[in-house]
Amino acid sequence: MLAPPFDREAIDQLIGDLADRGFGVLTDAIAAPLVDRLVADCIAREDSGEMARAAIGREEAHTLETRIRRVDAAWLDGRSDGEAAFLALAEQIRSAINRRLYLGLFEFEAQFLTYPPGGFYARHLDSLRGTRNRIVSMVVYLNSDWEPAHGGELDIWSEKDDFGPPMATVAPRAGTMVLMLSEEIPHAVRSANAQRRVIAGWFRVNASTGQRADPAR
Ligand code: OGA
Ligand code: MN
Repeated sequence: MLAPPFDREAIDQLIGDLADRGFGVLTDAIAAPLVDRLVADCIAREDSGEMARAAIGREEAHTLETRIRRVDAAWLDGRSDGEAAFLALAEQIRSAINRRLYLGLFEFEAQFLTYPPGGFYARHLDSLRGTRNRIVSMVVYLNSDWEPAHGGELDIWSEKDDFGPPMATVAPRAGTMVLMLSEEIPHAVRSANAQRRVIAGWFRVNASTGQRADPAR
């Protein structure tokens, strides 16, 4: 298996920022060889037709909400060395977050996202407070040749009621990782002028420990 590049100090800083202000950004979190493998895995999904135009969330799995989001998506399942290495890295981050923030994160799920030219994702939260489901969001960018003309930057606000200019704007450059509190941090993807590839993941708690009984258990 490809060893996940894991800079403990940098990841600790990222998690510290997540704790202090609800989000953190780390450039070069994923080294180029692993990014390249993940890009190949993403392209394989595109070519095999596994990617479906994404709906918003699981509840609306059959709704194509093109006003809010225009992107194709496929779940990671660890089928390749690259995916396995990425999931191993996510697991290390999961336990590091739990050690530091006591969030009791229980599992991780992630999707490859491919935004076509003109793709975007309007301002949203990844999880609604009270559902106790997605707690921490992770975004990892896979665009090795990104340049400003390609657009598709991620805007991040500090809290739900913050409708001012974004607190941070992140270029979707290969290897950059973003962590955000899923229930607190609104974010949006500006319209991309070129194809834009991402892994978007969510650390979740076991739904049955939240307010709703998990019908699957
Ligand atoms: C998401 C999301 C950010 C991005 O999938 O929920 O916010 O940069 N993605 O694509
Ligand atoms: Mn999101």
